[in-house]
Amino acid sequence: MPLLFRKIKELRNHLNTLRCERNFSLGFVPTMGYLHEGHKALIKRSRLQNEVTVVSVYVNPTQFGEGEDYERYPRDLDRDMAVCEELGVDVVLAPTDEEIYPQGSKTEVYVRELSEVLEGKFRPGHFKGVATVVTKLLNAVQPDRAYFGEKDYQQLKIIQRLVRDLLIPVEIVPVETVREPDGLAYSSRNVYLSPEERESALSIYRSFLLAQEMINQGESNSAIIKEEMERFILSHPHVKKIDYIEITDPELNPKESVERGDRILVALWVGSTRLIDNWKVG
Ligand code: PAJ
Repeated sequence: MPLLFRKIKELRNHLNTLRCERNFSLGFVPTMGYLHEGHKALIKRSRLQNEVTVVSVYVNPTQFGEGEDYERYPRDLDRDMAVCEELGVDVVLAPTDEEIYPQGSKTEVYVRELSEVLEGKFRPGHFKGVATVVTKLLNAVQPDRAYFGEKDYQQLKIIQRLVRDLLIPVEIVPVETVREPDGLAYSSRNVYLSPEERESALSIYRSFLLAQEMINQGESNSAIIKEEMERFILSHPHVKKIDYIEITDPELNPKESVERGDRILVALWVGSTRLIDNWKVG
């Protein structure tokens, strides 16, 4: 079993002891737990690139808005520990709220502009919570490399920016989205979906294939591609509402004309579950 720490001080003492014995590179995978194949890909990458890997499991309250799923977010630390053991993780950090937000905490991290578009419009405050907790976790662990999934593409871009802006000495390593065999991106929130809803959720991936096919056929007008995607997605019964379909360059600037390397980003509601996904135009 990996070592499990609840307290940052104990984690630091352990890592300091290891560092006295030998030199090693440290990889860090921050998660909210309920580990699935997407998380596993991050962990495996870290294991390949580093001698020691730390995984954090912390459902961060400040990145959930009012009325969002903080309370019902799936949690199972025993299972997460077993997954980490299977993958050869050295240390799991599962801090208490008090460890991360000591009483009287007043400091927040906010990445302007990038936090205001796309997800930011629909989840006000979300990226402030993410940026703040990731800064704290990076300071707690002080890794050489930290691993983030492209599944949460905007989050990845915000973290790359914050590390650059705050001069945090860590290499951010992006990892490609891992999908189920039928194309649905792995997400802890997929457990909320009924079998029928799951079928409708597949429309996201299929709309990416549709868009890619249009682009392959020579279509480059974003508005036309987005319209087709919307029409296709809304033809599925359990899709309640599309929050956005956007086509941007890799830095999240909207594009009117699509080219290779651009991103198509989607957020929508299937039943009462909100899902996000994105696609790199090939
Ligand atoms: P969580 O949703 O648990 O995701 C942890 C990491 O796994 C993120 O970097 C996310 O992009 C990545 N991930 C999730 N699903 C993936 C998939 N299908 N393929 C590849 N990577 C995937 O993202 C968070 O937690 C939190 O916001 C966190 C960064 C931990 C801060 O609280």
